[in-house]
Amino acid sequence: MKVLFVTPEVEPFVKVGGLADMVGALPKELASLGHDVRVVCPLYGSVKRVGSWTPRVEPLGIDVGDAAVWARTWETRLPGTEVPAYFLENDHFFGRGGVYGDAEGAYPDNDLRFIVLARGALTLCLQLDWIPDVVHAHDWTTGFVPVLLNTTLRQSPLGNTASVFTIHNLEYQGYAHRRALSFARVPESEFHSASLESLGAVNPLKAGLYHATKITTVSPTYAEEIRTPAGGFGLDHVLRFRGGDLIGILNGIDADSWNPSQDAALPAKYSAESLGGKLACKSALQLRLGLSPHREIPIFGVVARLVSQKGLDLLAEALPYVMGSMQVQFALLGSGDPGLENAFREAARRFPGRVGVHIGFDGSLARLIQAGADFFVMPSRSEPCGLTQMYAMRYGTPPVVRSTGGLIDTVENYDERTGSGTGFRFNDATPLALANTLGWACSTYYDRPQHYRSLQVEGMRRDFSWRRSAARYADVYTWARQQRSGLASTTP
Ligand code: ADP
Ligand code: GLC
Repeated sequence: MKVLFVTPEVEPFVKVGGLADMVGALPKELASLGHDVRVVCPLYGSVKRVGSWTPRVEPLGIDVGDAAVWARTWETRLPGTEVPAYFLENDHFFGRGGVYGDAEGAYPDNDLRFIVLARGALTLCLQLDWIPDVVHAHDWTTGFVPVLLNTTLRQSPLGNTASVFTIHNLEYQGYAHRRALSFARVPESEFHSASLESLGAVNPLKAGLYHATKITTVSPTYAEEIRTPAGGFGLDHVLRFRGGDLIGILNGIDADSWNPSQDAALPAKYSAESLGGKLACKSALQLRLGLSPHREIPIFGVVARLVSQKGLDLLAEALPYVMGSMQVQFALLGSGDPGLENAFREAARRFPGRVGVHIGFDGSLARLIQAGADFFVMPSRSEPCGLTQMYAMRYGTPPVVRSTGGLIDTVENYDERTGSGTGFRFNDATPLALANTLGWACSTYYDRPQHYRSLQVEGMRRDFSWRRSAARYADVYTWARQQRSGLASTTP
């Protein structure tokens, strides 16, 4: 099958969160199953030009608003593969450094920027005369892709192309002014509540949900949660309405890139059979973040976007109590909400040598924390899938997680009687529940070292690779294609 990924982020070129990891990894696996997969992403000012780049289709005229927007197209490959990745260059819309915004907040023209991406990606296919069987779109920024295929481009050579829309995060919906419709050249008749209108505005995420041939989300549990008022962010009725076409597929991880026995970012390598190198990683982490060099004290690591979804305000609140009652250290990397950034900077000042904090985005430090920490903390309020807990398990670092979404599907709770499990789970999104569970992890480390070791090894042995899930996506593409051509109606 020919499959086009349209995306706002893709590893290793540009990344804000796990969406980039997913879009950087799944196409590789699909290609190895024999599919012709290609990726389109904007060329933001911050895109890293990894590998060799050549100009393609120049200039590309993208029909939006009253006239065409002109873009340059660059072609490269996902590293280590033959998968083409195309980048759309247009300084006016994409020349800025940020993906979604900057220190002032979200860019005010995000609606237009991502319509240029949606329309540009489809126009590129027409120009290349490469007609995909399926376009796979990701999150609200690409919500107009399925709409365009169903309306404006229905009579074009893309008229039979099916769409698959993946929800990575239902929380971000991309609300836009009604002007977005005419800019996208989508008929005004779509401005109603069973299409892309919400609260008198344009809701690109809802547009994708109503118009996509099939919808996926990134874990089975999240696929259930978002059908309920408690987890639906106001769109649960849409997801129930489209329920027969909504499928939860657990994300995998790029098991070559995230592998402690060959990770170039680590000072020493290790594996489940020989964990020795992990201690050298711990020492390097302590040195890097100014933590006291005590080998025997457990380090709790955090790598996250500092936003309320991740529940790290619970950690900030629990910290004074935790530091007062347990022999532990914290290593935290993140950026986002200025209030949380300050709270963690303050914690580092208050507990020197015990709390090490780096505010910023740093791919190598993220890996060093995964490897050097003894536990990984993820108290998410909601978590569609979560990749960092899987990276942690692969690096022998049992995670402490709240029981929600993909965290339920990936972390098996420790059983104190048998020693089985891969991490520690708790239910209530409260500082107290988190503190108690950190205490449970800490006492396991000190008092039941054989159990701690078995949690580590069990997590390292779990198969989180993309192999199984890529085959599931291939099934979804087949169903979408059949449905688009009228051969089948709903998912088996
Ligand atoms: P989300 O996509 O919601 O942020 P995930 O767990 O799916 O959560 O993926 C987060 C990804 O972003 C991981 O690859 C993680 O290592 C990375 N990441 C998050 N914050 C940072 C940071 N400050 N520096 C480096 N990498 C980060
Ligand atoms: C989103 C979610 C995260 C998921 C990632 C990749 O950013 O917040 O849970 O792992 O997308 O699908």
